[in-house]
Amino acid sequence: MSRVAYVNGRYIRHAEAGVSINDRGFLFADGIYEVIEVFGGRLIDEEGHLQRLARSARELRLDLPVAEAALRRILRELVARNRVSDGHVYLQVTRGAAKRDHFFPKAGTPATLVAFAHRGDRAAAEARAQSGITVISLPDIRWKRPDIKSTSLLPNVLAKQQARDAGAYEAWLVDAQGFVTEGSSSNAWIVDDAGALVTHPADSAILSGITRARLFQVAAARGLNIVERPFALAEAFKASEAFISGATTIVLPVVAIDDHKIGSGAPGPVASGLRAAFHDFAPATP
Ligand code: PDD
Repeated sequence: MSRVAYVNGRYIRHAEAGVSINDRGFLFADGIYEVIEVFGGRLIDEEGHLQRLARSARELRLDLPVAEAALRRILRELVARNRVSDGHVYLQVTRGAAKRDHFFPKAGTPATLVAFAHRGDRAAAEARAQSGITVISLPDIRWKRPDIKSTSLLPNVLAKQQARDAGAYEAWLVDAQGFVTEGSSSNAWIVDDAGALVTHPADSAILSGITRARLFQVAAARGLNIVERPFALAEAFKASEAFISGATTIVLPVVAIDDHKIGSGAPGPVASGLRAAFHDFAPATP
């Protein structure tokens, strides 16, 4: 079965799907995106992701080319046509195709909408959660608006590759004051001395993760306190547990940061418990 993607109103074989070389996404990374988990054939936290997409569009003065109801239909169509049971849907909107010029294209230039679905490997994800991941720290060199889910991800891409080159899975980005903001493609969490979950406030320094927001609810139901405050890298080194969250990873325990063993050096009960409970709380829409 060949994979099918959506491009500007058409479902096209993945291998043949493409956009113009004049596309603003290609030329300027002038676009926004979302990644939504598909679990058991259902979209997880779709509402939150679409709300965040609308916000990103507003912040960048970008007009979405289709209404939300149509977007929901497209995502379902992709899940169905690609027979995705567990995996993700990816959608991206750019400011459209126009002769290369930094100014916005003239009014009426349609935005580009591309979406595709891909299957995940549930067993591999579980194995990773069982072993835990390692993280390196790097300076956060991103622009001052990472709260917008923009496709301008060069610092994130460089950080992620640097993590891989160092044998790690994720990079935690550290601001000028020494505080961990978030991961290159995930939110960052620790468990503090009092057993509370600590994660950076959802201000303009981080992406306000949809998984992160859902975990607040999961944690509360498990009687865990959550504190939104910046934490220093030094505090993370001494934390009893650390973990990351995101639509592609849900919760992954962090067992080492920069060669500092976290807790016992094995996944801890808090992170593992949150991971196990996550899908009991996250709305799943067919
Ligand atoms: N990344 N922070 C960053 C920088 C991210 O790129 C992501 C998600 C998150 C977590 O957000 P959410 O829980 O809404 O997925 C935090 C996606 C998965 C990606 O770029 O592939």
